[in-house]
Amino acid sequence: MHIGTTLTNYIIETQRNFKGATGEFTGLLNDIAVACKKISDLVNKGDLVDILGSAESENVQGETQKKMDVISNEIFMEALQHNGHVAGLASEEMDEICQLPKNAPRGHYLVLFDPLDGSSNIDVNVSVGTIFSILKAPVHPGDPSTEDFLRPGVEQVAAGYCLYGPSTMMVLTTGQGVNMFTLDRHFGEFLLTHENITIPEDTQEFAINASNMRFWEAPVKRYIDECLQGKEGPRGKDFNMRWVASMVAEVHRILTRGGIFMYPLDEKLKTKGQAGKLRLMYEANPMSFLIEQAGGASTTGRERIMEMKPEHIHQRVPVVLGSKNEVDRVTSYHND
Ligand code: AHG
Ligand code: MN
Ligand code: MN
Ligand code: MN
Repeated sequence: MHIGTTLTNYIIETQRNFKGATGEFTGLLNDIAVACKKISDLVNKGDLVDILGSAESENVQGETQKKMDVISNEIFMEALQHNGHVAGLASEEMDEICQLPKNAPRGHYLVLFDPLDGSSNIDVNVSVGTIFSILKAPVHPGDPSTEDFLRPGVEQVAAGYCLYGPSTMMVLTTGQGVNMFTLDRHFGEFLLTHENITIPEDTQEFAINASNMRFWEAPVKRYIDECLQGKEGPRGKDFNMRWVASMVAEVHRILTRGGIFMYPLDEKLKTKGQAGKLRLMYEANPMSFLIEQAGGASTTGRERIMEMKPEHIHQRVPVVLGSKNEVDRVTSYHND
């Protein structure tokens, strides 16, 4: 595919290789792109429109919602639930899976999404994003149940994110590599700007919220401690650190120049009864699919994320992802 082609063209071209393709998947990705363009437009306008600040409501995750968490969720729902491309939807911001309106046509896909990732950054004008995961809907009469959404990450047919940064970028995998599209605002289209992204296997850059250091488990402490010792330590090289607090921005940096990202299980999370901070269905699985498709690795520290059998729609998991050799090292420290 040539650089500069539109996202729509790209999807049509790649779908042509699939026997029996009906255009529904193309339509679905187009719906997602439309929603992301709307969110991008609002995020860009920022304080010029009334979208910043808190909504004063709490979501099922126990987080106070930002206005933009609620608005982005509504934009996604509006873009996806009436077009006949999905059978059901699930979101970080909705307590239960969404049953489509009675009279809406039904499609063959399930979409799970984090409408606004990194939303603590929205008020300080730092990058945020949208993450989505696409599954095939089960074939049975009636609407999908919550159980139907609880499929392991390896069954995703596509996943991606849209990063609202200095430029807006859509990053997508359909299981045949990872491609990046940049939004041309004047033109109103996502254009292909990077093809077949690969993550370097080695890195000298890690991302972790170090304020949680005293709560970490021994394998994470050991890994970070060795990185911090730099050239003089067992790693024999200096490391750099980054923490944006937007998973989309961290994964985008890792896809662009390598690195390792960790949001491990720690004592603080355990006392809250949480198995991790990040959500398996809306964050960990789609990001793992992208990272693996780019040659990286993604585990909980103990097991491959995409092989986990989900138990709850809002399930949380520890996440270690990025450059393969570093992720393998952290995983081996856990399994020592
Ligand atoms: P969300 O804004 O969708 O709730 O997700 C925020 C997540 C993730 O993007 C980021 O990596 C992490 O939470 C940041 O957590 P800390 O504030 O604990 O650093
Ligand atoms: Mn949230
Ligand atoms: Mn998120
Ligand atoms: Mn979110």
